[in-house]
Amino acid sequence: MRRVLAAKPTRCEVQASRLDDGGAGVGASSGRLVHVADLLPDERAEVVIDHHSPHTADAWGHIVRRIGAASKDRVAPACPGWGRCGGCTWQHLSYPAQLAAKRRRVELALADVLAIDTHGVKVSEVRPSPAMFGYRNKGKYVAGRTQDDKLVLGAYAPRSHHVIDTLGCRVVAPVIDELASWVRGAAERAGLRAYDEQARTGELRYVIVREVAGDALVALIVASGTPRAKLELVANSLAGHPAVHGLVVIENDRRDGAIVPAGSSAQVLLGHGYLVENLAGVPVEVGAGEFLQVNRAQAEAMYARVAELASPKAGTRAVDLFAGLGGIGLHLARAGATVVSVEIDRDSIAQLRRAAERAHLPLTAIAGDAGDLPAEVRAQLGAAPDVVVVNPPRKGLSEGARELLLALGAPTSIYVSCGPEALGKDLVALAAAGYAPDRIEPFDLMPGTAQVETVVRLRRG
Ligand SMILES: C[S@@+](CC[C@H](N)C(=O)[O-])C[C@H]1O[C@@H](n2cnc3c(N)ncnc32)[C@H](O)[C@@H]1O
Repeated sequence: MRRVLAAKPTRCEVQASRLDDGGAGVGASSGRLVHVADLLPDERAEVVIDHHSPHTADAWGHIVRRIGAASKDRVAPACPGWGRCGGCTWQHLSYPAQLAAKRRRVELALADVLAIDTHGVKVSEVRPSPAMFGYRNKGKYVAGRTQDDKLVLGAYAPRSHHVIDTLGCRVVAPVIDELASWVRGAAERAGLRAYDEQARTGELRYVIVREVAGDALVALIVASGTPRAKLELVANSLAGHPAVHGLVVIENDRRDGAIVPAGSSAQVLLGHGYLVENLAGVPVEVGAGEFLQVNRAQAEAMYARVAELASPKAGTRAVDLFAGLGGIGLHLARAGATVVSVEIDRDSIAQLRRAAERAHLPLTAIAGDAGDLPAEVRAQLGAAPDVVVVNPPRKGLSEGARELLLALGAPTSIYVSCGPEALGKDLVALAAAGYAPDRIEPFDLMPGTAQVETVVRLRRG
């Protein structure tokens, strides 16, 4: 949504009635819906309006004075950068209240689906994450500079290109935070300059640190032409950390915000270019760029539930669209199904193929766009599978992917979604084609945020 600066600062009183997806409290004032950071439902404050939408009645403001009592759901945020880094915007909300708000988000997004005759199916309680902190197995950092020219690793402040230091983040696994500090120090000593997006000068753009069972992979994403000697100095410093399993360098000159663009190649400067993750008990290699759920324990619980809902047995034929590294497909194969997995990212699919072969599992891994598969590839999915699982990105199914799902015509389909609003739209379309949900089970994979993952089982007819 485009925002314009308020013509002149106006003040109003706002009582929040709900939270928006960015974690701001939303309350009505003089016909506008005002979004206010750090205002929880039932809290009231005097607010200065900073921006308003030219298209809708929404406005955004900041608190100048709190009025009355704090919400009973308010807790102290755990991270030092909270409120500035724009990451976990719900860290000031108690966990039970977060879970209730996530469930409400799914109910609202699926209201049109639930209004269809779904035989009384309800959105289940959100399955809580086993850990609220230290659960992220991947840290992503933008490189920036302070005013006194010190290197910073962090995140863009909301609606700006100002980099906020996020070292000390409590949400990543502790070793990730520790290594990010090491990288910052080593890069500073090596004279690596932070990349400037506007001027297109400088070298270090992003840092990724990935962790599996205490081992870490560090990726330096740099502008092309970054002197190798500087990168080697960083690698040499990191060689002294016992958790470092490998360090890779990836060149990226893109201007579209992609951190590791598809098709990038990683140059190994230290150790190995991958870690070994366990998915359904199967070792799978993972590099810096492939998609992997960040909350390992909760993702495994969700995959296991998907397999349970699919109830495969020997002979069951399953298709796993948007397969990633195979978290879902490997669980289905382990439970006895013969699986065909489709994924657009070639590295992921190659890693999944190798993993399934080594584990002697009946899983065929196919690289391709689920929304636009050539006829000969489509034929490999087999006619009338017993179950089709889809787990698309946040924006939901493309027309082509939806058409494929319907053409496959499985009696059971499972939709795993990280975008409740897109899920709502897709489920309405699938209902019109005869697929009705009989289970709607949200999972919390990202405590402290508005994000919620939803598993929906659909039955045809
Ligand atoms: C939400 S992730 C899910 C991955 C996997 N199911 C998991 O749980 O780890 C979505 C995946 O879809 C892939 N993807 C995106 N667009 C695609 C497309 N058009 N066709 C096939 N895969 C696609 C992405 O690369 C990513 O791996």
